[in-house]
Amino acid sequence: MKLGVMAFNCSHGSTITTVPEAWTLNWPDTRDVVQMVDRSGMETVLPVGRWRGYGGPSDFNNCTFESFTWASAIGALTDYVTVLATVHVPLAHPLMVAKMTSTIDHVTNGRFALNIVGGWFKNEFDMFGANMRPHDDRYKYAKEWLDFLRQAWTDENEFDFESESFHAKNVWSQPKPIQKPHPPVMNAGGSPAAQDFTTRYCDMNFVILKDRTFLEGAQKQIAQLKTMARSHGRETRIWIHVYVVCRETEKEAKDYLNHYVYEKGDWEAAGNLLKIFGMQTETLDVKTLESHKAHFIAGHGGYPLVGTAEQIVDELGKLADIGVDGCLISWVDYKNELSQWIDEVLPLTEQAGLRKPFAPAQKSASRSQRSRVDSAAMAK
Ligand SMILES: Cc1cc2nc3c(=O)[nH]c(=O)nc-3n(C[C@H](O)[C@H](O)[C@H](O)COP(=O)(O)O)c2cc1C
Repeated sequence: MKLGVMAFNCSHGSTITTVPEAWTLNWPDTRDVVQMVDRSGMETVLPVGRWRGYGGPSDFNNCTFESFTWASAIGALTDYVTVLATVHVPLAHPLMVAKMTSTIDHVTNGRFALNIVGGWFKNEFDMFGANMRPHDDRYKYAKEWLDFLRQAWTDENEFDFESESFHAKNVWSQPKPIQKPHPPVMNAGGSPAAQDFTTRYCDMNFVILKDRTFLEGAQKQIAQLKTMARSHGRETRIWIHVYVVCRETEKEAKDYLNHYVYEKGDWEAAGNLLKIFGMQTETLDVKTLESHKAHFIAGHGGYPLVGTAEQIVDELGKLADIGVDGCLISWVDYKNELSQWIDEVLPLTEQAGLRKPFAPAQKSASRSQRSRVDSAAMAK
C-alpha cells in the first residue's frame, strides 16, 4: 500500500470545518509537513488544483498555493518523495505545461508526476473567461491536450501539432523530462467518459469510491477500471483519498469526527461545493452526493479511516485487498496528526506486511538513485 499526503496547498486542506486547529495555509508549515513526509518514506504529495474557494464561514479553500510553483519548491526541499502537480487542462497550454513539468522533473531528479483534471468548478472558469465544454467533450479535449504534451515531452525534433483545438507550428521543447518516456500521469475523473479516458491514456486513476459502506461495491468499481485498462493494453493504478482521524480509543476518534463535522462543520460551504459539483460533474448522482455531505465536510468525500491506529491499519489492509494501490491522506490538523501517523500508524503498517520498512539503504542512497527508483514506484 503506497501512501501520500494531499490538499495541504489549500487553506483548510480537505476539511470543511470552522475548528481553529484546521490547516491555515502558510509556507513554514508546508515545508515542515513535506519534510516530515519525505523522511517517513511515504511515496507522494499531491496539491489540489484550486483557484478559489466555496464561501461559508470557513472560507473553505479560499487561499491556495498554485500547484506547479508549489511542486517545484517542494521538489527542491525533498530527496525521496514523488511530487505531483494538478493541472486543469483547459486552463494551461500543453507546451507551457511540458516546460514547467520538465523543469520540475529536473529539479526533483525524476520524482515528478502529473495529475490532470478536466475542471468542473464554473466560478473558476469564469475568472479565466474560459469555456466550460459540455461534459464528455472535456475528455475529447483532454485527449488532444495530452497528445500534445506527450509529443512535447518526447519528440527530440521540432514538430507541428494539428488537432481540432491546437494549431501549433515548429514546436520545440528542451530539456526533455528526466523520466523516460515521460513522468507518470494521473487523472481524477469518475464518469464513464472519464473512465474511458483514464484507462486508455493515463497511468493512475484517482478514484472517488462510490460505495463506502460495502467494500464489495468499491471492489467492483476498482476491478472494472483495471479490466478496462487491460482491455486497452495497459495497467492502471488506483489511488483514493482517505481522511484520517486516529485517536487512542475508537470513541475518542468518533467524538472528534462528530465535533468537527456536526458541531463545527461549515455546511454552507459544503452546500455550495456540492451544488456546483452535482450540476457540473457525473461522478456521483445528486442523491448520492447529498448522502455523502458529511464525508465532504469530514474530508472532501474521501474514504473514512476513523479509529485507533490498529483499526486504521486493519482498514488499510481491507482497501489493499480490494485492489487499492495507494491512499492519499488528509487530516484536520496536518502537522500534529501527520506526526502521530508517522510515530504510531506507519510502524503498524509495516508489522501488518502492508508496507516495507523504509530501508536504511534508501535513506543513505545518493539523491539520484533514490529518486529514480521512487518515482517509477509511484505509478507501478
Ligand atoms: C479524488 C479526486 C480529486 C480531485 N481533484 C481535483 C482537483 O484538484 N481540482 C479539480 O478541479 N477537480 C478535481 N477533481 C475533480 C475531477 O477531476 C473531475 O473534474 C470531476 O470528478 C468531474 O469529472 P467526471 O464528471 O468525469 O467524474 C477531483 C476528483 C476526485 C475524485
